[in-house]
Amino acid sequence: MEKDKKPINHVAIIMDGNGRWAKKRGLPRHKGHEEGCKRIIEIFEAVKENHIKVMTLYAFSTENWNRPKLEIKQLFTYLDKFFKDNIDKFMEDGIRVQVMGDISRLPEKTQKVVKEALFRTKDNDNYVFNIALNYGSRQEIVKATKEIATLVKNNELAVNDIDETTISNHLYTANLPPIDLMIRTSGEQRLSNYLLYQLAYSEFIFTPTYWPDFKKENFEECLKEFRKRDRRYGKIEQ
Ligand code: IPE
Ligand code: IPE
Ligand code: MG
Repeated sequence: MEKDKKPINHVAIIMDGNGRWAKKRGLPRHKGHEEGCKRIIEIFEAVKENHIKVMTLYAFSTENWNRPKLEIKQLFTYLDKFFKDNIDKFMEDGIRVQVMGDISRLPEKTQKVVKEALFRTKDNDNYVFNIALNYGSRQEIVKATKEIATLVKNNELAVNDIDETTISNHLYTANLPPIDLMIRTSGEQRLSNYLLYQLAYSEFIFTPTYWPDFKKENFEECLKEFRKRDRRYGKIEQ
């Protein structure tokens, strides 16, 4: 298959740099989150144009609770607005909303808005908008381990039958295709507890652009770069 025709099924993004974007402009950090929320739907438009089925976004990590209470509150207010403003569009375009993480710790209002989005979009199957909220990959692996251990304890699964698929099936991403490309904005080159198991063979792109400055054309550039990559999966050219 020609390289530029290589299908991309799943892109995961770490939307980082909102705070620094705001600081650079002499604005409070929450203004960066406000502007960042506006980029989400623009980038998702580009995802659809490129026939990418799934976009997974890191919006709030288990470690982000260590931030000031006010910043957390403001961030969730913007996310509430994002869901409210876009739910009709999700319905029109056949987009299913999915969530990764323990949402029971989120503000009541956010839980309500998110649950409504999950419920309303549950039968859509053109695209998946998968958002990580109070997500931590280590927490996800602990959760999967407990579920698998319980199956073994109840004699529903033999230890020898545990394989890579068993683990994958107990992660939040169980029903999703493998992640082809992981993009992190803002220049940081780390995973910050994101999808440790799922990214084993994904391509990584770290771009210095802050998330609120990350436009469609920046995303297209990332896809172009991805298409140049040679994914060998341990094999050699013959
Ligand atoms: C990403 O931007 C959004 C969240 C982590 C919630 P940051 O808020 O981390 O912005 P920087 O990295 O401090 O610039
Ligand atoms: C990762 O970004 C989490 C999200 C983008 C939601 P952080 O800004 O929290 O990560 P660190 O602290 O720089 O590793
Ligand atoms: Mg950050």
